[in-house]
Amino acid sequence: MTRFRSVFAGVGSYLPKKVLSNDDLANMVDTNDEWIRQRTGIKRRHIAASGETTSMMAVHAAKRALKDANVEAGELDLIVLATATPDLTFPATATMVQREIGMYRGFAFDVNAVCSGFLYALAIADSFVVRGQARTAMVVGAETFSRILDWEDRTTCVLFGDGAGAVVLRGEPGAPGMGDRGIIHTHLRSDGRHEELLYVDGGPSKTKTVGHLQMSGNKVFRHAVTNISGAIARVLDDTGLNVSDIDWFVPHQANERILEGIAKKMGLARDQVISTVADHGNTSAASIPLALDVAIKDGRIKKNDLVLFEALGGGFTWGAALARM
Ligand code: ACO
Repeated sequence: MTRFRSVFAGVGSYLPKKVLSNDDLANMVDTNDEWIRQRTGIKRRHIAASGETTSMMAVHAAKRALKDANVEAGELDLIVLATATPDLTFPATATMVQREIGMYRGFAFDVNAVCSGFLYALAIADSFVVRGQARTAMVVGAETFSRILDWEDRTTCVLFGDGAGAVVLRGEPGAPGMGDRGIIHTHLRSDGRHEELLYVDGGPSKTKTVGHLQMSGNKVFRHAVTNISGAIARVLDDTGLNVSDIDWFVPHQANERILEGIAKKMGLARDQVISTVADHGNTSAASIPLALDVAIKDGRIKKNDLVLFEALGGGFTWGAALARM
């Protein structure tokens, strides 16, 4: 059976127009710009307009990624869309995107691994591509976390933003080698024992409501640094690489202090870490493709660079992935 490797062919992203600054938030809850910047590094975040949904943002990002890849929607075999904030309980947001971009073949489905969603979706899409079951695949991360925040809770509402990002993967013949472009390795983990540290207190089956995000911030912080560092170490170990071999780290953008903590623990140079947290806040599953798009478009990440992605999210779910762009 022919083996393939998943090569990044294009990337695109979308942020809603409305920008909410820390000063804007200070008019809504008992907080201030200095506290938010010092504790999180966040300066502003984008918020979806009334009626603007996860699928709408995903469609913008998907179309931009297709254009960047020079691929028609009709060439796609697969869409895997990561979200914890779908338009509806069902159908999957992925099939709405499929319809709106004009992809009338293949298959599309959602993945919910919260902030690790993009990594999970990437690993799943990769497994279809490497076995030749999808020659061209799209991976999307899209969220409207603004709809699940309690806007009176200063401990959570200052942290998150809305947005979407997408990548197009193309199957190229040949198993992934270290020098080849494409996804080289992925490592996923989860541990359901920590549900009470980060969850939404509503859902169709339990409460018949949407609910609000609840988080024990400093406990999540500690798990994030430990678990993500572990996942990075595992990917390096599995591939026989050292931190010094990696050109860029594109982390899930939760908090500048988490990024600094991981960089310090792993011995990464701070300027190798792509950070968009100041401008985007935490956009959950959308944060990695949004950051990747920024760093490719501004010329930092180039073709053939070795990039390590990592994330942790509710569940807990976490993981890391290594790719040559
Ligand atoms: N403005 C002003 N004061 C605040 C605010 C705010 N927005 N929020 C909390 N405070 C106060 C608290 O009430 C507390 O006051 P007290 O000492 O009088 O009780 C004080 O600030 C310190 O609160 P802590 O929660 O201990 O602050 P901490 O330094 O831990 O920072 C934060 C909180 C930013 C949430 C941090 O814990 C964090 O970033 N954790 C990780 C959370 C995260 O990134 N989650 C997402 C990852 S997973 C995912 O992406 C879904």
